[in-house]
Amino acid sequence: MSNHLFLTIPLIAIPILYWVYTYPKKKYKQTNLVLYVHDSLTGDDKSAMTVAGKDGPTTSIMHFGTLLAHDDPVTMGPDPGSKEVGRAQGMYINSQLDGKALYMTFSVMFTDGEYKGSTLEIQGADPFVLKEREFSVVSGTGCFRFVRGYGIMTTEFLDLQNMRAIIKLNITVRHF
Ligand SMILES: *[C@@H]1O[C@H](CO)[C@@H](O)[C@H](O)[C@H]1NC(C)=O
Repeated sequence: MSNHLFLTIPLIAIPILYWVYTYPKKKYKQTNLVLYVHDSLTGDDKSAMTVAGKDGPTTSIMHFGTLLAHDDPVTMGPDPGSKEVGRAQGMYINSQLDGKALYMTFSVMFTDGEYKGSTLEIQGADPFVLKEREFSVVSGTGCFRFVRGYGIMTTEFLDLQNMRAIIKLNITVRHF
């Protein structure tokens, strides 16, 4: 009886220990990305338009309830002439009664560079009167499957009269 026990314990324990040591450990990668979004409501390179609001589609985005659709160029540098790596496509809606904050939901669709073909899904509040606004990165595709993260948004350039802005997105994400 005792001889059998001494034989069966290693027979069970060894496969379990082997499985524990060789089980693949899911280690995440952390990636930091600094992107610039060029959002223009006027000009030849117009990339955004208001589509609905309290006075119809022409209502200013500065008014509560205005919805804006955008397909903005995304570059790695702040200069509008720097290499385009993707597009920021989605919408903003002015969602603060006093008009001083937007709710945004958009995809960054990478069309060039290291992340070509991948996307990041961005969602959150943009109280644009603040210098730094933190937003969330809720998901992604391609290189960014299972992504989670956050970003800091700052306005690098603003021409309020012509409604043109360059927004810096400093994104930190964890993915596999
Ligand atoms: C980006 O944000 C991180 C904090 O999340 C900060 O440490 C880093 O300096 C920022 N980089 C740039 C280029 O702004």
